Amino acid sequence: MPTKDEKLYIVAMGLPARGKSTVVIRLKDTFIKNGITTRIFNNGNIRRKYRAMNTTIAEFYDPENKPAAELRKHFALANMKRAKDFLEGKGQVAVLDATNVSRERRELIEAYLTDHPILYIECINQDEDILHLSILEKIKLPEFAHFTPDDAAYEFRKRIEYYKMIYAPLHGERNYIRMDSLYNRILEEKLLDSIPLYSRIRDFLVTDVVKNLYLIRHTETYFNLEDRIGGNSLLTPQGISQAKALGRFFAKRKISYIFTSRKTRTISTAEPIADIQRACTIIPLGEFDEINGGCCDSMTYQEIKEKMPHVHSAREADKYHYVYPGGEGYVTMKKRVEMGIKKAFYLNRHADNIMIIGHRAVNRMILSHFLYRREEDVPYIYVPQDKFYHITATQDRKLFELQKFD
Ligand code: F6P
Repeated sequence: MPTKDEKLYIVAMGLPARGKSTVVIRLKDTFIKNGITTRIFNNGNIRRKYRAMNTTIAEFYDPENKPAAELRKHFALANMKRAKDFLEGKGQVAVLDATNVSRERRELIEAYLTDHPILYIECINQDEDILHLSILEKIKLPEFAHFTPDDAAYEFRKRIEYYKMIYAPLHGERNYIRMDSLYNRILEEKLLDSIPLYSRIRDFLVTDVVKNLYLIRHTETYFNLEDRIGGNSLLTPQGISQAKALGRFFAKRKISYIFTSRKTRTISTAEPIADIQRACTIIPLGEFDEINGGCCDSMTYQEIKEKMPHVHSAREADKYHYVYPGGEGYVTMKKRVEMGIKKAFYLNRHADNIMIIGHRAVNRMILSHFLYRREEDVPYIYVPQDKFYHITATQDRKLFELQKFD
């Protein structure tokens, strides 16, 4: 805990729709929970209240548009003043949430905020899919209501291009963390001053925070009865009643999205759960499709052993690294499953509960993301069909429990 005199300015930096606000809001919530008085000063919130000019059209962000640039500087200064007042009073951490991508803007911040150290947090996201989804979220804001969705997305992308024109990477600044906000990975850090709470901030930034992740394997299928791998089998009557039991079990917990694979068995497991909820969307993601068995797809384990003994023995010898001919292995699934987790977390980021309905191998990979396991142990993690994993991973609490639902 910093002493009352140890105060800090955190300045977000990054192009629009790179997850800055999500990061700083979560950071603020964590600090407040730990008794650290924190407030966010968001330039966009001031801008959105300003009615004299249309601030959603891209031209408002054109660096050549001098009156608009002056106005944006004015909003930024208003927030700097409020942040300074906050730290002069009881506040301990003041967060400036804005793009702050130009050197000029950062020089202004540094010239004004001289009383406490400044830590910049730059958010970078290079993933086009996530950028696309972020823009779709952004244009749902009331300020875009006067545009068609296509026009709003066009204006927003053009706005990003204007920001790129003035973008100057962090370099001469004294203290900064550059992070990949999709992967929660620190790409670069520099620290010339003593920054209160630094190790907690750093740890927070690299932690995947989830209050409740319900990780479920699809319920029983006809292929499961025969011990057949892959395919696109249907649920058995027992599988259907297990799915209904899941629906009843989760009826009182709010689930806004259920992420599944594209396979019928995971979607059919999700349907009775979604049906009982008031508003729940099933989102099938290819990233959560089961391991591709390639030439062995739809065979039983016994058939593989008899007809393709070399596959059987090579897989037995090193199950994690073995790749089915024409298919996948645990090792090659890692990247896509991680991307699925990132997408699901991103889309679900405003809710506490997140549900994923996957398959045996996929769920093992998801579990290994949260639960440290040696690679060779991952393909043997227990993933039953009559229980689910409940995972909590926040800075203050880690929980992994296998729960029965029936
Ligand atoms: O049998 C069900 C299944 O999901 C198959 O589709 C998949 O090939 C297999 O489990 C993965 O488990 P393992 O890696 O243990 O073979």
